[in-house]
Amino acid sequence: MEKIVKEASTLFLPKPVALITTAHGGRDNVMTAAWVNVVCMEPPQVAVAVRESRFTHELLKASGEFVVNIPTRDIWRAVDICGMVSGRDRDKFRLAGLTRERGREAEAPLVAECPLNIECRVSAELPLGSHTLFVGLVLAVHLAGECEGERGAVDVQAFRPFVLNHREYWDMGSKLGRYGETASELEVIP
Ligand SMILES: Cc1cc2nc3c(=O)[nH]c(=O)nc-3n(C[C@H](O)[C@H](O)[C@H](O)COP(=O)(O)O)c2cc1C
Repeated sequence: MEKIVKEASTLFLPKPVALITTAHGGRDNVMTAAWVNVVCMEPPQVAVAVRESRFTHELLKASGEFVVNIPTRDIWRAVDICGMVSGRDRDKFRLAGLTRERGREAEAPLVAECPLNIECRVSAELPLGSHTLFVGLVLAVHLAGECEGERGAVDVQAFRPFVLNHREYWDMGSKLGRYGETASELEVIP
């Protein structure tokens, strides 16, 4: 396979898109983020990279809490809206037609239309340059019953998540195989 060497950049493969909700001092907000991931299993932690200029950055710093809401493909346009304007001057819930729902642990609202909501408390902050990486300790996970798959997993066919590939939204293709499917050939336990 012949490769071309590109400029240093963040060129990457598809990433799931999330809606990050925050709240502080009687205000709340919802922001689209693709730079989100699981970063630790025990204790369970996730991380989101947020540019300093975002209203979300301000609310995150002030409250030390956030919720990661994972949307379905049905609401991709609402997700796009939440990434186009700032909540500093607009109520993006109203603008995007999204519904606030009370969580169990955090002040930040859950997005009711998202089947998965992960409430977090900031456990570490890493200023990296344009973006700050906020690591969040998971406090509570809410999953819509109809999206629960086998052994506590998410049923992606019921959930219908989508990803961002550079500047395009794509839904997911077909199942390729099972995690650990090669383990028996390797004689290891997956
Ligand atoms: C698909 C998509 C993914 C995005 N991912 C991020 C991200 O990971 N981090 C970030 O800081 N901004 C990201 N943005 C940009 C913010 O969502 C956007 O600047 C938003 O208006 C900021 O909102 P706020 O000022 O209300 O916090 C993304 C936008 C879109 C459309």
